[in-house]
Amino acid sequence: MLGSPRKGGNTEILVDEILKGAEAKGHVAERLRLYDYRILPCLDCRACKRTESGYNCALSDGVEEIYAKLERADLIIFGTPVYWYGPTAKMKLFIDRLRPYIASRKLAGKKGMVVAPSEEGPGCCGPLLQMFAMSFEYLGMVDAGSLLAQAYERGEIGTRPDELERAREKGKTL
Ligand SMILES: Cc1cc2nc3c(=O)[nH]c(=O)nc-3n(C[C@H](O)[C@H](O)[C@H](O)COP(=O)(O)O)c2cc1C
Repeated sequence: MLGSPRKGGNTEILVDEILKGAEAKGHVAERLRLYDYRILPCLDCRACKRTESGYNCALSDGVEEIYAKLERADLIIFGTPVYWYGPTAKMKLFIDRLRPYIASRKLAGKKGMVVAPSEEGPGCCGPLLQMFAMSFEYLGMVDAGSLLAQAYERGEIGTRPDELERAREKGKTL
């Protein structure tokens, strides 16, 4: 999941390197850009908590396609730049829409990983990491760790071979 609005941005570059590492180990990877999808905000209608709904979301938008992909995945990477010490608004919209999985438990046992570049670097990522760790736990997901990096300009991280190597190596461990 790419939660940055920037094409060719730092999040995308890091996630792509992780996927290259994972693919080198024989894993099949798919990447999607949340900004390409229409994602309506969760309305707290609670339809997804009722058995009659099959624990499905009542909203109809791009997330229907994403739900199917999530349910097929073994590991989900949440890639987002740090915006005000949290994820981007689009990533937050998406996280809110994971609510059906509280009741259905369909994400339980899957691994979740966070990838987050930021201007200030890893030291500013505590609140973001905590939000994801607690959310993974709530969903019964397994925390597969994170990759944090310092970068500000679009594509800046791509000029740092050591960071790219670190991301690829991370991908190989998945
Ligand atoms: C609205 C906004 C808020 C931001 N807030 C933070 C922040 O709180 N801390 C930080 O270190 N960087 C912050 N940044 C900088 C981005 O995290 C940084 O530029 C990142 O590398 C962008 O990644 P991308 O190229 O994948 O979009 C912010 C950027 C924007 C546009």
